[in-house]
Amino acid sequence: MIDVQDGYFRLAGRETAMVLHVNESGRLEMVHYGGPVALSDAPFLRFHPLLTYGTELEDDQGNFPDHETLAWSGLGRGDFREPPLEVHFSDSAFTNEFLYDSHEILEGTCPMKGLPSGRGEGAQSLVIHMKEAARPLDLDLVFTLFPDEDVIGRRVRLINRGEEPVVLDKVMSTMMDLPGRDYGLLNLTGTWNREAHPVFRKLDVGRTVQASLTGASSNRVNPAFALYEKGTGEDRGRVYGFNLIYSGNHYASVEESPHHFYRVQAGINPEGFSWTLRAGETFESPQAVMTTTDRGFGGMSDHFHRFINKRIIPEAWQDRDRPIAINSWEAMGPRVSEGSLLKLAKEGRDLGMELLVLDDGWFQGRESDTAGLGDYSEDAKKLPGGLDRLARKVRDLGMDFGLWVEPESVNPDSDLYRAHPDYAIQSPDRTPILGRHQLLLDLTRTEVQDYIVDQVNGLLDRLPISYIKWDMNRHMADFFSPTCPAGELAHRYILSLYRILDRIFGTHPQVLLEMCSSGGNRFDLGMLVYAPQIWASDDTDPVERLTIQKGLSYFYPQSTISCHVSAAPHSQTLRQTPLPTRFNVAAMGVLGYELDLGRLSPVDKKAIQAQTAFYKDHRSLLQRGTFHRRDDLPDHQEGFAILSPDRREGVVLMAQRHLDHAGPAYDRLKVSQIDPDLSYMVRSRPQKCQLARFGHLLNYVLPPYLKGDSLPVAIAGRHMALDEGEFEGRMTGRALHEGIFLPDQFKGSGYDKKLRLWGDYGAQLYTIQALPEGEGEVEGESNDNE
Ligand code: GLA
Repeated sequence: MIDVQDGYFRLAGRETAMVLHVNESGRLEMVHYGGPVALSDAPFLRFHPLLTYGTELEDDQGNFPDHETLAWSGLGRGDFREPPLEVHFSDSAFTNEFLYDSHEILEGTCPMKGLPSGRGEGAQSLVIHMKEAARPLDLDLVFTLFPDEDVIGRRVRLINRGEEPVVLDKVMSTMMDLPGRDYGLLNLTGTWNREAHPVFRKLDVGRTVQASLTGASSNRVNPAFALYEKGTGEDRGRVYGFNLIYSGNHYASVEESPHHFYRVQAGINPEGFSWTLRAGETFESPQAVMTTTDRGFGGMSDHFHRFINKRIIPEAWQDRDRPIAINSWEAMGPRVSEGSLLKLAKEGRDLGMELLVLDDGWFQGRESDTAGLGDYSEDAKKLPGGLDRLARKVRDLGMDFGLWVEPESVNPDSDLYRAHPDYAIQSPDRTPILGRHQLLLDLTRTEVQDYIVDQVNGLLDRLPISYIKWDMNRHMADFFSPTCPAGELAHRYILSLYRILDRIFGTHPQVLLEMCSSGGNRFDLGMLVYAPQIWASDDTDPVERLTIQKGLSYFYPQSTISCHVSAAPHSQTLRQTPLPTRFNVAAMGVLGYELDLGRLSPVDKKAIQAQTAFYKDHRSLLQRGTFHRRDDLPDHQEGFAILSPDRREGVVLMAQRHLDHAGPAYDRLKVSQIDPDLSYMVRSRPQKCQLARFGHLLNYVLPPYLKGDSLPVAIAGRHMALDEGEFEGRMTGRALHEGIFLPDQFKGSGYDKKLRLWGDYGAQLYTIQALPEGEGEVEGESNDNE
């Protein structure tokens, strides 16, 4: 609810409140952002220094701009912290100071043009109209409160009321000053194959900046970040989380002032950005979203996950289970053919998969990544009956059909480029710099937009396609376009992309869109408004994925994180990991498979059949339950739990990157979010360890004439494997709060089916099911494991 009293505004969610105040000078102060407070308390929460200090400047109202906690600031008027807006007026003046003029409160969101935003049912918006103190330039600060999720959206609108153009060099979507000391910063950093690694660092006086310049939200640093107070854990501590509903170059900075206030701002990256706002024109910034909680990182994730599941991903997919895909890429690369695809589809179906995704390689000239991008007709040699016959046959097998496209790019070696070289972004005076042998198309041109829309809509209208994987495999460079100045190109490209996606998927809401950009190079809220899920990384090694998926989980729900089981050794890390681990980690998101199923041994096929059956049994929980991370485990282990909202059901992952030390280590299964007053049945998901894992150690148990690495043993290993880690027990939620002991890990002194044969890279899933009242509460009842 938004209420106003005596110049104070309060935006109150369920467990949070933001209080704003127009001060005597007309500047908008951020009085409070944190737990719920009464408006009558606001004057006491407001920081208001009585006297000026030393070199500070003082305005005509006796206020000291550099010492205020502001919700928006200017440049050149006494506040020496980083400004959120830089404008050049036609006479080269650049001072700007926006002062309160009026406000309005709207039900729902405040409509915006051309940019995606959170859906607004039950939301309220506060629009504060500000005016530049000396020039005809207006600024609207738009706050949208999503009370149920405790999320606030912020964006700005600049309106040129004058006759002369003004040049916008920097426009942030949000800015606020927070009091406090000793904040840390969490952000997600990386590169290709190593996306979204969470980094925690302590802040100090000065600016800490995170930004992308690649044209996309990028795999280098995600737009999401969080500030946290000292001592914050998963379930305790004040955290402020921020994100941007935008897919292009982004910028965020946290500046600790000499007075130990923290200025936080986020928006479009000002580097390479310069926007001319002509008379009467309006510029709208993307929407930033923020939340706060004193329930630690877990509380922040809870707010953001609920917000994204309810208000960001397309409505048609909000409560809808996602299919288990089998993707052709890691199985066959671009060497696809109707025969091999139908074989993969049939094998996939028999193993419980539901959707065949034909990845790269299906169109003419696409023998490798050097040619063919931009053209959309099928390769007649690979697909003699065309996509039509393939799709029909896949559907006849009982599988859905999905297709990979990469519409934003063109290879110079393509019919499209030969016909329209001008469609590509390249500078007339430079040799174009290529990425994966391709150029980006200039999406700002309407004929390019029409070409892409016609091609993709043509496929969707002609074929029974239920899923599209939309890829984008290069960074932006050579900024030049005949349609707009270079400083507007990167932003206009993203606006055009949104327009294209609207025109295609707005008319095909039932098609499941998965975004991809060389893996997770564009994992952001802007993309999620169109695509319910995003390919998190080309790196499907489960050990790497533990970090990537954990990183993303701070800010994005598992329903958005696409995860595939692939072959071992892994194609990028050469790491040999057990099949159960690959599944157990992928099951913490939207599950799929991406490997040559024909090469699997009978025992692995059986295991995969059991995996898909397990996933389907728990699918809604795994995709849309509440996600929790454990923060009490040593660095070599990871623990995630996904619980139903009523906490009666759960699936818990315990995983280890490597065996810490040999010796009698023990592990405890601990779920501190479970209902302590219920009784639960806890079971391990049955899994088996391949004989090959034991290598020559098998000689200890084999008859003397057989060797561990002999052919008969290898053949036996294709048909049999060892049960591991069996566990079953009834217990109260209190025991799970404390942490129950799991059976031992293998230590080389014998075998028992309850032993966890984990070694390096082992992992297991445990299901938790509340027992009907009266069952399982027997005083002193023992754990079946003992
Ligand atoms: C990118 C994607 C992969 C795959 C290939 C195909 O690298 O991230 O998943 O689709 O392109 O060329």
